[in-house]
Amino acid sequence: MTSVSDYAHLWEAQPGWLNTASYGLPPRPAWEALQAALADWHVGATSWEPWDESTTRARESFARLIGAPAADVFVGSTVAAGVAPIAAALPDGAKVLVDDVEFTSNVFPWQAHADRGVEVVSAPTAELIQAIRPGIDLVAVSAVQSATGDVLDLPAVVAASKEIGALLVLDASQAAGWLPLDVRGVDALIAHTYKWLMSPRGATLGYLSPELQERCRPIFANWYAGNDRHSSYYGTRMDLAPDARRFDQSPAWFSFVGAAPALELLEQIGIPAIHEHNLALANEFRAGLGLPPSNSAIVSTSFPGADEAFKAANIRAAVRNGNLRASFHVYSTSADVELALRALKNI
Ligand SMILES: Cc1ncc(COP(=O)(O)O)c(C=O)c1O
Repeated sequence: MTSVSDYAHLWEAQPGWLNTASYGLPPRPAWEALQAALADWHVGATSWEPWDESTTRARESFARLIGAPAADVFVGSTVAAGVAPIAAALPDGAKVLVDDVEFTSNVFPWQAHADRGVEVVSAPTAELIQAIRPGIDLVAVSAVQSATGDVLDLPAVVAASKEIGALLVLDASQAAGWLPLDVRGVDALIAHTYKWLMSPRGATLGYLSPELQERCRPIFANWYAGNDRHSSYYGTRMDLAPDARRFDQSPAWFSFVGAAPALELLEQIGIPAIHEHNLALANEFRAGLGLPPSNSAIVSTSFPGADEAFKAANIRAAVRNGNLRASFHVYSTSADVELALRALKNI
């Protein structure tokens, strides 16, 4: 079995980075690929096509990570933009269920259709599954909540959604990269890659089931979504790709140049090993705070004064909804945990 520590030399995290839930740090292959592309850009050393090969690699790697065919994966810019075509496909008057603390990129795109009767209702995390009742047309929820670190009981949500015939749209931005994921039973799974997938911001990847692809209008139709991109530059003849590629937004080249090596490295290390590593550190931190162990790489807890103490000790974590939020990823170490606990000791 691979050990995460075998790969530790690929990152140069300064001690005290506990904020992957905000953004992840690039592994050396991603950093170097990006620097090389920037150097080529600087002097015009190459055409753009070699940069774009990274988009294909990132799409394929993401597909393997979530157990989907690459033909069902689109590339885009943000979660909100990935959700938009699904929201546009909802019938007038549809009802969408979200978590009370859902990140708004998976809330506002549904609410933007309020004028045609699309209604968003919410439930507390602990009551979400009971709230999946007849009358709900679509469940839009994060696999791991940004604010609290709560991990969704995915099999239960899939079963409850299937039972009432509701679509299930997952935001995996806080999950993909550390939590084992599988798209079986899921209609859409979208992840921005700049957190746990350790990529530059601007590269988003999403799965759309073949059935959902049929229901959605490619509202971002563009040259890159063309069946043959090179004959899709000009004019009025639109021939879009027959698969999920017709939902592609033309990619931010350099974001994908950084994303492809990062995703491939995650595959190489293996999500189960990373999952184990992250939980061990998160639970070490929790134990130090006197909290019971949990199943999340994100620790969120009320700790008045923690923000100031962390700032004084140069520990970079976050405060969300009034709670301290510390997150642990592949490059985090026990030394980071110790630093954080030491900073909090005298409060
Ligand atoms: C769960 C979740 N989804 C999405 C995003 C980012 O959204 P977008 O890609 O629309 O900028 C974040 C950022 O914090 C997030 O935590």
